Amino acid sequence: MNKVGIGKIGFYTPPFYLDMTDLAHARGDEPAKYTIGIGQDQMAVTPISQDIVSMAVNAGLQIINDEDRSKIDLVIVGTESAFDASKSSAVYVHELLNIQPHARSFEIKHACYAATAGLQMAKDYVTLHPDRKALVIGTDVARYGLATGGEVTQGAGAMALLVSADPTILILEKDSAYTTKDIMDFWRPVYSEYAMVDGKYSNEQYLSFFNTVWNLYKEKTNRSIADIKAFSFHLPYTKMGKKALQEVLPEADDAKQKALSAIFEESLAFNRLVGNIYTGSLYLNLLSLLENGKGLKAGDRIGLFSYGSGAVGEFFTGLIAEDFKKGLASDKYTELLAKRQQVTVAEYEAMFTQNLPEDGSALTIDTANDSSACRLVEVKDHKRSYIVK
Ligand code: CAA
Repeated sequence: MNKVGIGKIGFYTPPFYLDMTDLAHARGDEPAKYTIGIGQDQMAVTPISQDIVSMAVNAGLQIINDEDRSKIDLVIVGTESAFDASKSSAVYVHELLNIQPHARSFEIKHACYAATAGLQMAKDYVTLHPDRKALVIGTDVARYGLATGGEVTQGAGAMALLVSADPTILILEKDSAYTTKDIMDFWRPVYSEYAMVDGKYSNEQYLSFFNTVWNLYKEKTNRSIADIKAFSFHLPYTKMGKKALQEVLPEADDAKQKALSAIFEESLAFNRLVGNIYTGSLYLNLLSLLENGKGLKAGDRIGLFSYGSGAVGEFFTGLIAEDFKKGLASDKYTELLAKRQQVTVAEYEAMFTQNLPEDGSALTIDTANDSSACRLVEVKDHKRSYIVK
């Protein structure tokens, strides 16, 4: 059987960010609550010229070449920020990325779990068709509203995963443990532009789902914490992952506890600067782990926990591939983050409240402050238009 997994990882986040210390001052909170208690330093801020489609395309453009375009049979977009209840964002992405016409393109919704559902589907497809590839993208803008409890856990961005046989970065293993339970911890009715959340309950449920699938995984595989080199988590904010790690650390000896904690801290670098990107958050943490984690080598087993409110949890593992360093973009994403422009709280609030027309009137979008490759440029007759430079 062929080895199948992640061959390339693309990442995009909008070109603006807000410093969490500035936000804390504006909201009358202690900065340490945000930077230590929540574990976030900065938060991505989205201009009107970026939406889930343009961000997905910008992430895809980081990784796909013409050979990939001719081999991609599946374009799967996971999102919980859809702007259309019928037309799939994956169709725009397929067109704007110029992927061969005879592909299946569709959008999956299951809160922050959707990209993982797509990844597992893509893995099965490529296992059956090892000469073909699949593109899985998680793209979201996390919005709880100004001066809400969830505001500090907002963010925006997209992750693109190219799934192929003999992958360059991560070989996905067969065994996976998952569970579903109907709960109301976080949701967004279609009439609301903001997520609704029972914050404390969502934290408890995240941990409960993690414990369930981790224990199930151990039962299924006869593996233990000793077999895991590093954990990667869905990170709504980095402290959430820290709490999850603390649940399992007591199963390890002292040296292993230290090693797992150290590499976990290293893995947080990108997430601390971007915030929650919902469907892409786990894969941003995986990228950050692979780029910033010290001492990783081929054959190391990474344990990934995906959580989508509502809720589904899944724990699965991947083995680091032989040439993973070559497959990574080295400094490209560190640079993308460093080049972003800082905004003030007033500028963030202005961007946050700038809305597209909902009455069918036309708006030409000024993209002068956004040099991203793909941008939303016009809305007219309830239709969105994009350009790719
Ligand atoms: N210095 C250091 N730490 C401080 C501090 C200070 N001055 N002041 C407070 N803190 C600490 C608190 O002790 C607390 O730490 P612990 O959780 O370890 O106890 C932490 O800062 C947060 O403080 P609060 O619990 O008082 O914060 P809050 O009531 O404002 O709410 C939140 C935090 C519930 C995460 C809220 O931001 C929220 O609702 N976020 C959205 C929901 C969410 O992200 N849920 C995660 C699980 S669901 C999921 O994963 C799906 C998804 O993507 C949404």
